[in-house]
Amino acid sequence: MKILVTGAAGFIGSNFVYQQLADHPEDQIVALDLLTYAGNLKNLDGCKDNRQFSFVKMDIRDREAIYSLFEKERFDLVVNFAAESHVDRSIEDPEIFLQTNIIGTSVLMDASLKYGVKRFHQVSTDEVYGDLPLERKDLFFTEETPLHTSSPYSSSKASADLLVGAYHRTYGLDTTISRCSNNYGPYQFPEKLIPLMIHNAEHDIPLPVYGKGLNVRDWLHVSDHCRAIDLIMRNGRTGEVYNVGGHNERANIEVVKTILKQLGKDESLITYVTDRKGHDLRYAIDPKKLESELGWQPQYTFDTGIKETIEWYQQHRGWVEEITSGDYMQYYEKMYGNR
Ligand code: NAD
Ligand code: TYD
Repeated sequence: MKILVTGAAGFIGSNFVYQQLADHPEDQIVALDLLTYAGNLKNLDGCKDNRQFSFVKMDIRDREAIYSLFEKERFDLVVNFAAESHVDRSIEDPEIFLQTNIIGTSVLMDASLKYGVKRFHQVSTDEVYGDLPLERKDLFFTEETPLHTSSPYSSSKASADLLVGAYHRTYGLDTTISRCSNNYGPYQFPEKLIPLMIHNAEHDIPLPVYGKGLNVRDWLHVSDHCRAIDLIMRNGRTGEVYNVGGHNERANIEVVKTILKQLGKDESLITYVTDRKGHDLRYAIDPKKLESELGWQPQYTFDTGIKETIEWYQQHRGWVEEITSGDYMQYYEKMYGNR
């Protein structure tokens, strides 16, 4: 098969490319990315000499370019990771989220229809379901939970999901959607909670915890997410949505304290800052459908995954330092300077 992976130079996309190349040596992977601030070609360094792999720098919103790529390559399968992905940025500037996450997805689906793609897989998020109350530990997101978004980011992802459903029903495009909980692991951009806290702790910079740190996220190691996408896009039922999560709920403050402990740093580095606007309280996934239909099970517990991830960031300081110089410092000052 020839597979187009969009957003391939980002966090999950790059992990996914490595996994595909290792697990499916019979397939060809075309990795596409616009290389925005979040996309880093260095993330794909390890596969640039692989004959199964090629890279193209392209904007998923650019209809003309996307159509000529699809005409030339005749993909069997498209998996769309490309997105603006950070909630805090979406609160500051929603427009680009609508452009990339909604319009970009529609351009890819138009191209998929026009050039006979056999399956289009949309990488979505559990954030489309909104949030759950902190005190109701018995409640989980299922695939039937109504879409009920909070941030411009989650609203743009939910809009894309609705469009995917529309292309399936109206035009007969073969689609699948995965909705995963928060990921962690190698190559995550250090604006997100876990790599940001690791980086700050290592440099004795205060760790900015929003509100009281009691918001709960359901953490999944990126490799478990990638294995789930692999199963869904190859074997999932057409038109279906699959939730992905491994029952690893943690309050933010617990995650931050775990990181400090492993790095041997003092909890006095924790600084409670102004809460995020519209901050979702709790995410928690029910992954039964994926487990029973496709036999997926997570391989990581949070305890082993977070330990390995902290070690990865310690061993890849150069990668982090490059990203956290320049533009990132301006972003950091803007978001945290007066918080
Ligand atoms: P990321 O921000 O690390 O990567 C996104 C990639 O998309 C970047 O490489 C960026 O350059 C690229 N991109 C952005 N705009 C583009 C455009 N117009 N054309 C082509 N490429 C473009 O994000 P991530 O964390 O790897 O997330 C990937 C996908 O997974 C997203 O769709 C996100 O909504 C979804 N998701 C993420 C998580 C998570 O915890 N990170 C959880 C569930 C779902
Ligand atoms: P984040 O990694 O941005 O993912 P998402 O908002 O998509 O869940 O944030 C995870 C949680 O950590 C979220 O509840 C917000 C919180 N958070 C902080 O407390 N401080 C920070 O500096 C960041 C980036 C996030």
